[in-house]
Amino acid sequence: NDAAADVLRSHVRDIPDWPQPGVVFKDITPLLSSPTAFGVVIGAIADIARERGATTIAGIEARGFLLAAPVADRIGAALVPIRKKGKLPGPIRSATYDLEYGSATIEIHADAVPAGERVLLVDDVLATGGTAAAAHGLLVECGAEVVALTVLMELSFLPGRSRLGTLDIVPLLAI
Ligand code: PRP
Ligand code: MG
Repeated sequence: NDAAADVLRSHVRDIPDWPQPGVVFKDITPLLSSPTAFGVVIGAIADIARERGATTIAGIEARGFLLAAPVADRIGAALVPIRKKGKLPGPIRSATYDLEYGSATIEIHADAVPAGERVLLVDDVLATGGTAAAAHGLLVECGAEVVALTVLMELSFLPGRSRLGTLDIVPLLAI
């Protein structure tokens, strides 16, 4: 979707050396603050979800939530939050992974995805792939069929894709 890629080029800011030297942070707040631009991007993800027959949208805390929720609402799908450690009250599955900066643990409710659900996993950026690989692993452990991972931006100079096995990766923009 060229319109979505154009919108991302013009509405995502590069912040050099943040949160640490050598990292170029992708700031999506200009996208969020433009209703028109944000609508184009949510529409593009919703199209991908519909094409793949997704019945559940899984979003990764925190920025993935900003995308997954409006997509789920738009297509009438279930919404599943994959949260940072210690936030979900029920029985959980947990995965720890390394980030481009630091390490993190994410969790999902063990009963979040009923058998037979087709899940689209959504996040803003695919960088080293640690976050997405951990989230994908949790969904698979829950018995989900993960139809694809969609991200706004794939940082192609990092080896994120290679950590995701055969999972179908659909970036709106590859950098
Ligand atoms: C960022 C980004 C992705 C992840 C990508 O999240 O939103 O989720 O890192 O990096 P990776 O491919 O190297 O794992 P982060 O945990 O920094 O913060 P957030 O809570 O703002 O989403
Ligand atoms: Mg994130």
